[in-house]
Amino acid sequence: MKRNIALIPAAGTGERFGAGKPKQYVEIHGKTVLQHTLDIFAAHPQISLTAVVLAADDSVFAPEAAAFQTAAETVLLRCGGASRAETVRNGVNALLGLGLAAPGDNILVHDAARCCLPEAALSRLIDQAGSHPDGGILAVPVADTLKSGGSDGRIETTVPRSGLWQAQTPQLFSAALLQRALAAADLGAITDEASAVERLGIRPLLVPGDSRNLKLTLPQDEYIVRLLLAQK
Ligand code: C5P
Repeated sequence: MKRNIALIPAAGTGERFGAGKPKQYVEIHGKTVLQHTLDIFAAHPQISLTAVVLAADDSVFAPEAAAFQTAAETVLLRCGGASRAETVRNGVNALLGLGLAAPGDNILVHDAARCCLPEAALSRLIDQAGSHPDGGILAVPVADTLKSGGSDGRIETTVPRSGLWQAQTPQLFSAALLQRALAAADLGAITDEASAVERLGIRPLLVPGDSRNLKLTLPQDEYIVRLLLAQK
């Protein structure tokens, strides 16, 4: 039977966030951002395993290890890469290589820094894309007016927003499809898993996400994330 396995790339340094340590280790309400994210997957009945992919030289993680090891269904893989796509590729290869995932299992790749993912959005992705051969991603329709800017700091043109979506995570694909897509793609240009799959000529599903599923990227994001986590 097909299982749902979460893969959390957590090997980034989070330089845009500027906390002096990787943003997944910032503490909010007594827990790291990464732990908040892991708790979402640990609590979801349709997730059978969560794999966290760390940088090989991650030294911040060690004091946290006890908390992670309490969850039997969580594994640590210390094979992070130089880019997010490389981290995911290494993680998928490790899961398959170690026999922790079968080629037909679903892998749900989710940013460590998206720690407010609502349970209902995660369920929606599994329900709508979990049995679809082309997989799918959470995404929200673009709400703001979009401008294309020039290097002189002026507006070049207004981009019609109709039909445009903002990609979120999780992004769900079978392990075999994800492995094939990431092996084929030039990883330098890949900012999410769906774009690697699209390059194979496959069109994954767009599953309605949630505006609360934001990614901690800039220092000002922390204010909203704190409020959202306080409401949980
Ligand atoms: O930096 P950004 O916000 O795009 O990172 C998204 C996710 O990818 C984060 O969870 C980050 O830890 C992860 N990442 C990674 N390996 C890298 C770069 C980013 O796992 N080399």
